[in-house]
Order: sequence, then C-alpha cells, then structure tokens
Amino acid sequence: MATLDKTSLKLPKENPGAEDFLPLLGTDYVELYVGNAKQAAYYYMAAWGFQPVAYAGLETGLKDKVSYVVQQDKIRLVLTSPLVPGGEINRHIETHGDGVKVIALWVDDAAKSFRETTQRGAKPYFEPRILEDEHGEVKLSGIHTYGETVHVFVERSAYKGVFMPGYRVWNPFYKPEPTGLKYIDHMVGNVGWNEMNKWCEFYAKVMGFAQLVSFDDKDISTEYTALMSKVMSNGNGRIKFPINEPAEGRKKSQIEEYIDFYHGAGVQHMALATDNIIETVTALRNRGVEFLTVPAAYYEDVLERVGEIDESLEPLKELGILIDRDEEGYLLQIFTKPILDRPTLFIEIIQRKGARSFGKGNFKALFEAIEREQESRGTL
Ligand code: FE2
Repeated sequence: MATLDKTSLKLPKENPGAEDFLPLLGTDYVELYVGNAKQAAYYYMAAWGFQPVAYAGLETGLKDKVSYVVQQDKIRLVLTSPLVPGGEINRHIETHGDGVKVIALWVDDAAKSFRETTQRGAKPYFEPRILEDEHGEVKLSGIHTYGETVHVFVERSAYKGVFMPGYRVWNPFYKPEPTGLKYIDHMVGNVGWNEMNKWCEFYAKVMGFAQLVSFDDKDISTEYTALMSKVMSNGNGRIKFPINEPAEGRKKSQIEEYIDFYHGAGVQHMALATDNIIETVTALRNRGVEFLTVPAAYYEDVLERVGEIDESLEPLKELGILIDRDEEGYLLQIFTKPILDRPTLFIEIIQRKGARSFGKGNFKALFEAIEREQESRGTL
C-alpha cells in the first residue's frame, strides 16, 4: 500500500521528443489544501472509494496543520487543512477555495531533480531536504509551476513506512469499497490568456517534456465558449500535463470562469483511469458523485463516428459516458461536475482501449454540457 510499484504502472508509448535529464517514475501524490481535511477525507472515501492510509496532526506533534492521506491503487491524495489562523494554507484557501496545491512527482534523486530544473529556470519552492524516522528516509525538493501550484520531487527508495516521516498509520473502522480507480492518467492546468505557450515552454525547457497533441480554438469551441489546449508529456509518457488557456468566443470561456473563481491559474481536472468505466461510474453515481450529462442525440450517431466498440451502447448512454477514437484505438470518458463549491476543480474518469489521445472528438458535446451548467450559474 505504501509504495508504488514501478513495474506495474501502465505505460503509454514513449514520447520521443522529450529529454530524460529528469526521469519521473510516476505521480507520487496530489495534495489539496482544503477547508476541512477530515470531512474531505470522508468524501474521498465514501464517494470515491479511497482507502485511509496515513495521518499527521496534533497527535503526531504538528501544531498548525493536519493532513489525511487516502489511496486507491496508485492514486494517492493528501488532504491538508490549517489548525490556526493566518499562514500560507489559510491564505491559499481564502484566495482559491479548496484546490490542488502540490502535484508530487516520484523520482530516483530529489536533489538532482531540484538542481536540473532550477538550473533550467524553475523557481525553487524548497531546497532538497531529508525527512527521517524509524522506517527510513524520504528526500524531498520542490519547484513552482503555474499559479500557486507546485511540484514536489519525492525520493522514497530508502523508506518503508506508510507514507512519509511525520505521518502515522491511519486505520479507522470505516473503509468503503474501492470503485476501480487505478492511476492518474493526466492532470490538467488552466492558465490565463495567452499563457499556454509560456507554460508549455516551461515544461519543455525546465522539465524536458515534449508536446503530445495540440488543439486550437477551432477544434475546441462551441457557439459560445472556446479554449486552446496543448498536452505536454515526459519521456516515458507516465506524466501528462495538458495546459489550457481561454480563447475568444461569443460568451465567457469555461477556462475564464475557472480563472475568475480560482483567482489565477491552477489545476482544472485530474483524470483517473479505470479498467471498467461502466462499473466505476455506476458505483460513483450510486455514492453521490455527480457527472455532466450529454444529450441523448450524442448517442444516435456516435458509433458511426467511432466505429465498433467492445461495450454495449446502452449502459454508456444511461451513464452519459463519452466515446472517442484515434488512430490507435478508442477511449471512454466522463467528467464530474465541479467537486467543490466554486466552479473550479473537477474529475475525469477515463478508460483507454488503445487510444493515447484525450477525447478531442467529444469536446463539442462536452462543452455544450458545461455551458448548460455555466448558464445555470449565470457565468456564461
Ligand atoms: Fe482530461
């Protein structure tokens, strides 16, 4: 449970344009700053099927904050809340609402990762440091990325504990069934007007990533709202960061709505992979997760567009799961409504059946669904 297994990570084909001065083994964890970590942990367990793993707070000697670690297969979330007024976490929550602060990347050498990235222009978040307890040591370092989001490099080969020094096992009675979520497929950042290329260049120059696919605003626009998106990926293809910026449409771009409510750039969605999207989405829906719906008309001609698929169409239609195909296969995907009060962060569920793309063919249907939501919020 505590350590991620390198060999069983699903590997897409390598991204040949990327450089490997910064080998990334996978996503180590995603940390959210939230108003109430205890209740957030309950939400991710009850609704999403994450399992309780570790805890740090007053009982472990912390004075000013508390963190709960929950995990489902290779997806590990850290939920952190402040215990006292003032300070960085309160300020982050006041500005952004609940949101993703850290996308932590699993590396072989945290000090080298810091050196390589800061030499290439990354702004340091914190210098390499070592945390130790009776289970060994974890080495960490950190750099800033878009908005107030940061990357923490985690080197944990010499650690046998449950998560990290400072945490203890959290083993409550309540352990709801997992919902079949396996790993983080991609993490999407929203950045401001005309900032997409700047941040793509950051990932290229500072992290050695290369661009996978690009869309322009003609690809991803509806009558009203538009965005532009590029997907940056590391050398072994395990880390994929699409970056979106708003584009001009007749009405407000959904990316602009995000930027307005998040007060800056930040993580828009996490895409979580499953091997059986019908079972996963059925379980999530039964447990209270709300998804965007698509018009029934979407399913009338979808098979003409994507060709034959293994699944029968009826449950996909009933659940609102979208289908798209590229040269290498197809994918099934669905998006939640925002999972917070502000229309900011949401979660995508994705099942890849060969396809390595991101559902471009669904964007129009999807954006129309998002616009209906924006309309109801009066922010279109
Ligand atoms: Fe996505």
